[in-house]
Amino acid sequence: MSISTLIKTLPKTELHLHIEGSLEPALMWQLAGKHNIDLPYDSVAAIEAAYQFSDLQSFLDIYYAGADVLRDEDDFYQLMWAYLSRCREENIVHTEIMFDPQTHTERGIGYDIFMPGFLRAIEQAKTEWGISVQLILSFLRHLSEEEAFDTLALAETWYPHISAIGLDSSELGHPPEKFKRVFDKVRALGFKIVAHAGEEGPADYIWQALDLLQVDRIDHGVRCQEDPALLERVKQEQIPLTVCPLSNLKLKVIDDMRQHNILQLLDAGLLVTVNSDDPTYFGGYLNENYEQLHQALGMNEAQLKALVINSFKASFLPETEKQQWIAKVDAL
Ligand code: ADE
Ligand code: ZN
Repeated sequence: MSISTLIKTLPKTELHLHIEGSLEPALMWQLAGKHNIDLPYDSVAAIEAAYQFSDLQSFLDIYYAGADVLRDEDDFYQLMWAYLSRCREENIVHTEIMFDPQTHTERGIGYDIFMPGFLRAIEQAKTEWGISVQLILSFLRHLSEEEAFDTLALAETWYPHISAIGLDSSELGHPPEKFKRVFDKVRALGFKIVAHAGEEGPADYIWQALDLLQVDRIDHGVRCQEDPALLERVKQEQIPLTVCPLSNLKLKVIDDMRQHNILQLLDAGLLVTVNSDDPTYFGGYLNENYEQLHQALGMNEAQLKALVINSFKASFLPETEKQQWIAKVDAL
């Protein structure tokens, strides 16, 4: 079997996906029409053409503006349904999906609108296709810790549907330490914890995420390589890194996919995983991320399987389910 066929055939999991970052330009266009919203684009092609970024912030500005078309329960259902349909096509059997409540509550769209939409699509995908899904509520780090506390409190009736709490948005200038107290509360409530760190921010932000927030996983984390002591810790403790190759390329964390360090980190024994982050904005869903690693870095079959198995290991699935999926990957 060729590597490309194996990428498609293997059962996979995705651990770093922002649902708002899976909004397809065609759906954005359709919802803008439905709600009479004036977009600053005159066609679907013009939306696609606008997706050129110089750094994380230049992307986030467009991403938050795009999310404004999401207004009612059915919009959130359609958004989630479209991504889960893609999971089915790509043979993603388990996914842990981030959502940004503040992107919606700041516009007056409450949990009572987006959660029922998300959950309706998730239930349907479970029933029809057997896809398993967990949700990660993410705080926007450019906002205050106070607002993160409010966001957590507003979610209370939805806690049974949420597995983990995360931290995303503009990294530089908003270190993990800014959110230490709210993550103490998150931990006391029994949630898993993830945080974006070491994407654009320095290795020190990864230390803070580990020591102050006590994260279960680091989102991105590719800059851990700049600090040998940190690299050793991440390796020794097998702290998962949810790496997003196409995102790193499109946000200019790297200039060329051939510079990506993911296979170096894998071969050094780190628990790195492959993910799509915001696939519609960065030009590829999960399989395309694997494909680009093959084309640019010569990822071989053993490395591919190791990456896929790492994702199951790093997931929040029960141990028995992890082992069942890993055995299936090994057998292919
Ligand atoms: N929100 C959506 N995608 C993100 C990313 N790659 N980094 C930080 N915040 C995000
Ligand atoms: Zn992300």
